[in-house]
Amino acid sequence: MTYMDKLRELAEREKLAELGGGAERIAKQHQTGKLTARERIELLVDPGSFTELDKFAVHRCTDFGMEEQKILGDGVVTGYGTVAGRTVYVFSQDFTVFGGSLSGAHAAKICKIMDLAVKTGAPVIGLNDSGGARIQEGVESLGGYAEIFWRNVQASGVIPQISVVLGPCAGGAVYSPAITDFIFMVENTSYMFVTGPDVIKTVTHEDVSKEALGGAETHAEKSGVCHFVAPDERVCLQDVRKLLSYIPFNNLDDAPRKASNDPVDRLCLEIPKILPDTSNKPYDIRKIIVDVVDDGEFMEVHAGYAKNIVVGFAHLGTKTVGIVGNQPAHLAGCLDIAASLKGARFVRFCDSFNIPLLTFVDVPGFLPGTNQEYGGIIKHGAKLLYAFAEATVPKLTLITRKAYGGAYDVMSSKHIRADFNFAYPTAEIAVMGPEGAINILYRKEIAAAEKQGRLDDERARLAELYRSKFANPYKASELGYVDEVIIPEQTRRILISSLSVLAGKRERGPSRKHGNIPL
Ligand code: HXC
Repeated sequence: MTYMDKLRELAEREKLAELGGGAERIAKQHQTGKLTARERIELLVDPGSFTELDKFAVHRCTDFGMEEQKILGDGVVTGYGTVAGRTVYVFSQDFTVFGGSLSGAHAAKICKIMDLAVKTGAPVIGLNDSGGARIQEGVESLGGYAEIFWRNVQASGVIPQISVVLGPCAGGAVYSPAITDFIFMVENTSYMFVTGPDVIKTVTHEDVSKEALGGAETHAEKSGVCHFVAPDERVCLQDVRKLLSYIPFNNLDDAPRKASNDPVDRLCLEIPKILPDTSNKPYDIRKIIVDVVDDGEFMEVHAGYAKNIVVGFAHLGTKTVGIVGNQPAHLAGCLDIAASLKGARFVRFCDSFNIPLLTFVDVPGFLPGTNQEYGGIIKHGAKLLYAFAEATVPKLTLITRKAYGGAYDVMSSKHIRADFNFAYPTAEIAVMGPEGAINILYRKEIAAAEKQGRLDDERARLAELYRSKFANPYKASELGYVDEVIIPEQTRRILISSLSVLAGKRERGPSRKHGNIPL
C-alpha cells in the first residue's frame, strides 16, 4: 500500500464513521424533527473548532449476532471544541446507531472526555439521545453507566456539567443528567423518565402519554428536573452557548467579564415606579432586576418552576452575578418546598464556581399548610438556609419590601454572613406581618373592641401602631443588621461598588470532610 493508499483508507474510514447508522436512519432522524449528533455539535461549538476522538471505536459484544454489526464510533461522537473561544468537551449520542444505546465502548468514550475535562478544567456538555442501556451488552452497559455517574459526582463543583436532552433519556440513564448542573430540553422531542408509560400502566394502571410523563414542559414546570426549555434544537444549543457566557469553566477560573457601555452610576429610574405603595400589592421582581443589571440582560434559570422565587445570571459592572429574588407576583413571594429546592441548588452552583450572589428579598414567610408540612418544608426550607449559610462567595442582599420571620433569616441575612445588607426605605423587617402580629400581641384589646362593635377601627389602629414600630428598616439598621438604607434610584451604583469592594473576599469554613446538608 502506498502512502496515498493509506491516506485514502483513512478518508474512507472517516466517511464511514460520519455516516453513523446510514442515510436511511439519518433521514428518519430528520423526519422526527431531530438533528444528527454531528449537526448538533456544529451548532454548539465555534465553527471548525471541533476535534473528534475515538472516531473508530467499536463495541466488543459478541452476543445476539452483534459481532456482525459494528458501526465505527459506536453511537456517540466525542471530542472537544470551543465556545466563544473557550474549550469545552462534548459528547453527542447518535440515535441512528443502535438507538444511541450505551455499550461499554460507548461509555468508555464518554468517560475519556470527562477525565480530560476534569484534568484540564473545562466543562462537559452531554447531548443525550439514547434508548438507554445497550440491551445486548447487559451488565457491561450498566457498568458503563455507573462509570459515568461516578465521574459526574467527582466532577461536580470542579467543572460545570451541562446535559442537553434531545431525544429519549430513560431508566437509570436519567441519573447522569440529574447529577449535572443544568438540564436543557426541547419541546415535543425530549423525554426523561425512570419508568416509561407502559410500565406505569402495568404497575399503577395510570394512563399517561410520553409527553405528559416526561416531556420538556412537565420537567420544566412540574418536577423541576429541567432548567431550560427551547422550542427547537437550534434555539436550545444557542441557549447553551449563552449560559456558558456567564459562567467560569472550572472552580479555579474567573467568569468571563462582559464589556458594557451601561454606566456604573446609572440611576435606576424604573424602580420607584415598580415598587407598589402598599405592602400587599404584587409586582414583578424581574423588572427590578432588569433595571439594575448591565444592559438589562438577565438570563433566568428554571423560569417555569417555583415561580415564587426567581434565579438567574446577569452581569453587574461587567462581572457575572448569580441573582436570587423572591417573586411577589407569584404566591406573594412565599417560600415553599419547590422554591427552597430551586434556590438552594442555584446558590450552591454559584458558590461552587465563585460567582457572587445578589439576593433581592420580598418575602412574607414560608407557605403555610398541611401540604407543605407533610411534604417536608422543614427539611427542604433548611436546604436554602444551609446553602446561603455555607456560601463563601461575596454575598449582597437587598430588602425591597417584606422580610418576615424565618424567611428573613434564610434569605441571605447578615446573620448567616451576607457581606453587605441593604434595604430600601420601603422595607418591612419583622417577625410577622401586622395582621398576624396584632392578633397575638393584642388579643384582649381586640376581643374587647369586638364586644364594643369597633373591631375594624381597633384593628386598623393596632396594625398602624405595629407597622410604625416594626414595618420599616430602621430597627434592623440600628442593630447593624442592615448596613445601609438606600435610595432605590442608587441601587446599581451601590451594588457595583460593593461588589468591587468584595472582589478580594477570602473565606474558608472549618476543616471537615463535608457538611451534611439536610437532603
Ligand atoms: C439496543 C436499541 C435500544 C437499546 C433502541 N435500540 N434502544 N438497541 N439497546 N436500549 C435500537 C432499536 O432496536 C432500533 O434498531 C433502533 O435502536 C431505533 O429504535 P426504535 O425503537 O426503532 O426507535 P423509536 O421508535 O424512536 O423508539 C425509541 C425508544 C425505543 C423509545 C428509545 O427504542 C425503546 O423503547 N428502546 C428501549 C428502551 C429501553 O427499555 N432501554 C433500556 C432502559 S433501562 P433498528 O436496528 O431496528 O433500527 C436502562 C437502564 C440504564 O437504560 C441503567 C443505568 C444504571
